[in-house]
Amino acid sequence: PVLVVDFGAQYAQLIARRVREAGVYSELVPHTITAAEVAEKNPVAIILSGGPSSVYEPGAPSLDPGVFELGIPTLGICYGFQVMAQALGGEVAHTGLREYGATDAAVVGDGGVLLGGQPSEQNVWMSHGDQVAQAPEGFQVLASTAVTPVAAFGNDERCLYGVQWHPEVKHSDFGQNVLENFLHKAAGLPADWNSGNVIEEQVQRIREQVGSARVISALSGGVDSAVSTALVHRAIGDQLTAVFVDHGLLRKGEREQVEKDYVASTGVRLITVDAADTFLGHLAGVTDPEEKRKIIGREFIRAFEKVQRELVEEAKAEGEPIRFLVQGTLYPDVVESGGGAGTANIKSHHNVGGLPDDLDFELIEPLRTLFKDEVRAIGRELGLPEAIVGRQPFPGPGLGIRIVGEVTADRLEILRDADAIAREELSAAGLDSEIWQCPVVLLADVRSVGVQGDGRTYGHPIVLRPVSSEDAMTADWTRLPYDVLSKISNRITNEVREVNRVVLDVTSKPPGTIEWE
Ligand code: XMP
Repeated sequence: PVLVVDFGAQYAQLIARRVREAGVYSELVPHTITAAEVAEKNPVAIILSGGPSSVYEPGAPSLDPGVFELGIPTLGICYGFQVMAQALGGEVAHTGLREYGATDAAVVGDGGVLLGGQPSEQNVWMSHGDQVAQAPEGFQVLASTAVTPVAAFGNDERCLYGVQWHPEVKHSDFGQNVLENFLHKAAGLPADWNSGNVIEEQVQRIREQVGSARVISALSGGVDSAVSTALVHRAIGDQLTAVFVDHGLLRKGEREQVEKDYVASTGVRLITVDAADTFLGHLAGVTDPEEKRKIIGREFIRAFEKVQRELVEEAKAEGEPIRFLVQGTLYPDVVESGGGAGTANIKSHHNVGGLPDDLDFELIEPLRTLFKDEVRAIGRELGLPEAIVGRQPFPGPGLGIRIVGEVTADRLEILRDADAIAREELSAAGLDSEIWQCPVVLLADVRSVGVQGDGRTYGHPIVLRPVSSEDAMTADWTRLPYDVLSKISNRITNEVREVNRVVLDVTSKPPGTIEWE
C-alpha cells in the first residue's frame, strides 16, 4: 500500500481517499510508527499529512527520521513537508508570516516531476504559520509564493518531494494532479485499484474475522448499512441475519422499502423489530440533542441484543452467542464523533460515539475508512439497485434529531408528512442528484402567529435544510429554484396540520452542521 502518515490532521483520510481516487490503494498509519515498522509493511510510497502543530512546539508530533533512509518514494504535505525539511537538514523558520486559504503559487523552473506541465501561476490552498526557509541540500525548489520562498521541493534521485499547500483539497487547482504525478510518475505506481478490489479485500478480511460464527447486521434503510450488509452477505452468506429496527423515527414509506426492495435485491434474511413504543418511552421529556443521540444509540443496541438472544434460542446454538454486529460506519462519522487522531467531538453519531460502554458485540465495520461516494460505488458493484445506493443520506437517529424539542408521536406525524412533501417535490423537480440531502426540521418549541382561512393560527415552523456536499465534512446550502421552494412551502402549510410557516436554512457547514442536532 501507500502509507499515509497521520500527524493529526482532519485531512489525513482525505489524502488516503484522493490516493484511492488515483487508483492506488492506501492506508493510514500514526506518526509514531518506527522506520522498522514501516519497512515491515513494505509500502510502495509514503505520504506525510499535514497537522495542527508547529514543528517548534514542545511535544510536536515527529517522525522517526530513519523513514527517510528506507529508499521509499515520499511526499510531505504542509506539516509533513516541514517535518521532512527539518529531518533532512533544511531550515524551517518561524517568521510570524502566515498563509491561510487561497494563495497564488508560482512554479519555479520546469516544476520538476511534481509540477511539470502545470501552469506556472496557480491557485493553491494553504494553512500554515511556519515555513521552509531553505530546502535541504540536494533538493530543488519547485514552487514559491509571495510569503514562502520554498513552497515545494523535490529530490529526484532519492524520490523525496514536498509541498507546503494541501493538494488533497479541491480548492487547490492542480492538487489531484500533484498527487498523481507523485504516485504515477515519481513513484511509478500503476492506477490499478478500484472498488472491485475493496470488495475482494473486505470479503477476505470478514471471512477471517468471523470464521463460521453467525453475524447480525444493523440495517437502517440508509445507503451505508445497506452496502455494509450486502458486503458481509457476499462474504458469509446465510451466516448473516439483517435486523431492521423500526424505532418509530423513520420517514414515510421507509420500512416498506427496506422490507421489499432490499430483500428482493440481496436475498438476505431480514428480521424487523417493532420498537417504536420503547424508543418513544425513553425519549419522553428529553430535549438535549446529545442525550437523544445517546438514548437512541443505546436502545438500538438493546434491540439487537434482544434479537441476538432470540436467534440463539431459535438455533439452539449451545454456548455459541452471536458475537458479531455489522455497522455501516463511514469515515466522516468516525471523525466527527472525535474518533480521528486529535480531532474534536462535534456530535455523537449513533453508530460511533453513541454506543453504550457495555457493548456486548464485536463490531464489523467494513466501510470505516471510506467516504459516501466510495460506498455508493461499492454498492453498485455489488449489484444493489439505484433506488437504494442513490438515496440521500439519512441519519441513524432519524427524525428524532430533526425535532427541536421533545420527540412525541404527534410531532413525528407532523414532521413525517412535511418531509414526505419536500422529498416528493424535490424528486418531481429532478433535483435529487443536485442536492446531497435536504433535512426537514420541526421547531416544536417555537410557535408563530399566522392567518389561514380568515382565522388566526398559532403553529410551528418547518425548516428546509437543502445542502450540497461531496462528503458531508463540509457543505453549502443549495440554491433551490424559487418555484420549487414556493411549491413545497404552499403544500406543507396547506396539507400539514399545525404548521403555518416554512423557513429556509441558508447556513454552510461550517459553521452550521447539516442536521440541526
Ligand atoms: P452533520 O449534522 O454532522 O451530518 O453535519 C453529517 C452527515 O451525517 C449524517 N448524520 C448521521 N448519520 N448517524 C448517521 O448514520 C448519526 O448519528 C448521524 N448524525 C448525522 C447527516 O444526515 C449528514 O449526512
